[in-house]
Amino acid sequence: MIKKLIAPIAAVVLALALPVADAQTVIKFSHVVAENTPKGQAALKFKEVAEKKLPGKVQVQVFPNSQLFGDAKELEALLLGDVHFIAPSLSKFDRYTKKLQVFDLPFLFDDVQSVDRFQSGAIGKGLLESMKSRGLLGLGYWHNGMKQLSTNRDVLKRPEDVKGLKFRIQASDVLEAQFRALGANPQKMAFAEVYQALQTGVVDGQENTWSNIYSQKFFEVQKTIAETNHGVIDYMVVTNLKWWESLPADVRTGLVEAMAEATAHGNKLASDINEADRKRIADAGKAKIQKLSKEDTAAWRKAMEPVWKKFEGDIGRDLIEAALKANS
Ligand code: LMR
Repeated sequence: MIKKLIAPIAAVVLALALPVADAQTVIKFSHVVAENTPKGQAALKFKEVAEKKLPGKVQVQVFPNSQLFGDAKELEALLLGDVHFIAPSLSKFDRYTKKLQVFDLPFLFDDVQSVDRFQSGAIGKGLLESMKSRGLLGLGYWHNGMKQLSTNRDVLKRPEDVKGLKFRIQASDVLEAQFRALGANPQKMAFAEVYQALQTGVVDGQENTWSNIYSQKFFEVQKTIAETNHGVIDYMVVTNLKWWESLPADVRTGLVEAMAEATAHGNKLASDINEADRKRIADAGKAKIQKLSKEDTAAWRKAMEPVWKKFEGDIGRDLIEAALKANS
């Protein structure tokens, strides 16, 4: 008799236990770069810390290299709930806010330390919340580094060297205007397509950080990389606001803490990774690294200057002033 009762009781106990097991939240984090990059490393750190802080409560799945969603789709996928965290470059949000275009203004920031000061200030922090009405919440900024310019030409030193050339750009109107100001032809293209476009000559050049130029092997299909440092590639980690608010409070707290640790980790690594990748590219001897004199840099700055005026209205003078103040 007792034996007969045990089986149904066990079934009930199991059924009651199941929802607990089901309560584990699976968090998909999708990004477009390789794992051996600042963003790739920060995303892995986020997984490690989140799963340690919230044992059994969350499982974080990281999908690098546009495996799950590429540039064109990842923001839409986030809003549809198909993925929960993404970290697009700050250049890729202009359909959601014009404010973040400030990061694309050429020669606005002296270096990544200046970018960091701006992001840590009241205005920078405020931008994390600037897309809430569009369903997106920013949880932090992750660094990559300063952009360099590369082409399939032997000479790349002065702005006139890029006249008439075709450049792949991220989906940003500011970057489009930047290349038009140089007399070049910009083409918006997803990151995953760039290597092939460079290899086949669909475009002549691109702009990116050393870590992206190295990890995507762009240096193997370009002749010259000019050390222009003319802009920045940094990221905002964003989540779907509705999904975020639906999480239990303790899970949200744990994820915020994990995000802070991942941010500190990735941001500390970023400049070392870029420096090491610059050296790897130099050692490979495939693309020439072209240093620029002060006069050369001044010429690039002057050629790109019209872009500021064009976007000042959209971005807001207050943001540009705050960014300028962050330069030491
Ligand atoms: C690019 O598209 O060139 C970069 O934004 C890729 C990235 O995420 O670093």
